Amino acid sequence: MKILGTGKALPTLSVTNDMLAQFLNTSDTWISTRTGIKERRLLSKEDLIDLSTIASEQAIQDAHLKVSDIDFIICSNVANTYVTPALSCIVQGNINATCPCIDINGACSGFIYALDIAESYLQAKKEIQNILIVCAEEPSRFTNWKERDTSVLFGDGAGAVVVTRGNNLKSINLTTSSKVDALYYQRKLEDTPYEEKNEGNGPLVMQGKDVFKLAVTSSVSDIETVMNKANVKPENIKYFVLHQANIRIIDTIRQQLNLPEEKFPHNIERYGNTSSASIPILLDEMRKDDQLKNGDLLVLSAFGAGFTTGACVIEWSENL
Ligand code: UT7
Repeated sequence: MKILGTGKALPTLSVTNDMLAQFLNTSDTWISTRTGIKERRLLSKEDLIDLSTIASEQAIQDAHLKVSDIDFIICSNVANTYVTPALSCIVQGNINATCPCIDINGACSGFIYALDIAESYLQAKKEIQNILIVCAEEPSRFTNWKERDTSVLFGDGAGAVVVTRGNNLKSINLTTSSKVDALYYQRKLEDTPYEEKNEGNGPLVMQGKDVFKLAVTSSVSDIETVMNKANVKPENIKYFVLHQANIRIIDTIRQQLNLPEEKFPHNIERYGNTSSASIPILLDEMRKDDQLKNGDLLVLSAFGAGFTTGACVIEWSENL
């Protein structure tokens, strides 16, 4: 497969660290130095469905395709207002598509998992030519806004790509190792006459230090694996586009790989951690800033709740 077009949509409300310090026992200094985050966009007037729809429409337009050219939609999403139907079904209606759709929940690694599914579909089903992947996340809606330890980390947003047939995915590697306690969010289900449960009503629980270490170890290993599989060296890679969770995580991974800062683009300072949307949002910004050129090799790498991880080597190709 190859990426044909990109899109993104972010909430209009920008919330600075100082704004959070007005109601949380935190400070701009703590958040900036420990995470790299300066501000994040949070849903207020819009909702996640609006963002998903806009990002999808942009990616289709950017790919120079019509909605009717889209043969399958994959939406990566952890949680939204609807448990069912899938968010992809709602987006399908909004953009007037008619193709089949499915949601996946790979947490922050969802985009890499979606790329792997898309690649497999393109190989297995000759009737499928173009796939829309939209990663849409609203982590602000499941963190505890009375606690400073998780709420300051996240932002909302949607990023999308359209992929088509091509030979640009050079290697991919996915891993999952069940570590539920490290990072989870539970929703309470309805009581039945046979079962009543009071647990499971959020908010997000995270063992920050454990997640930090898991993120660094797994990402370094994934990146080395996909470069070996693709038979490329770090000097052949133009950019390492990492999940934007914490600038210290990105820096530690970079230092362990012994690579220069300019190969690790980031926008966490403006958007916080937008879960699976972070890589497609960053790709869209880089593309629109003219940073990506035909033939550039990129490593994408993400990690998240599960614990899931995924990385790939992909060759950028402009849709000329
Ligand atoms: O997409 C994947 C999802 N999650 C992640 O990637 C997160 C991975 N983990 C991290 O990024 C970091 O572990 C955090 C940013 C969450 C925390 O950074 P840390 O350097 O591991 O800090 P810590 O948890 O060890 O906390 C240090 C201190 C504590 O105070 P004491 O015990 O030293 O007095 C915390 O209570 O900082 C305190 N603290 C805060 N202070 C001000 C925790 N959160 C805040 C806050 N503002 N927001």
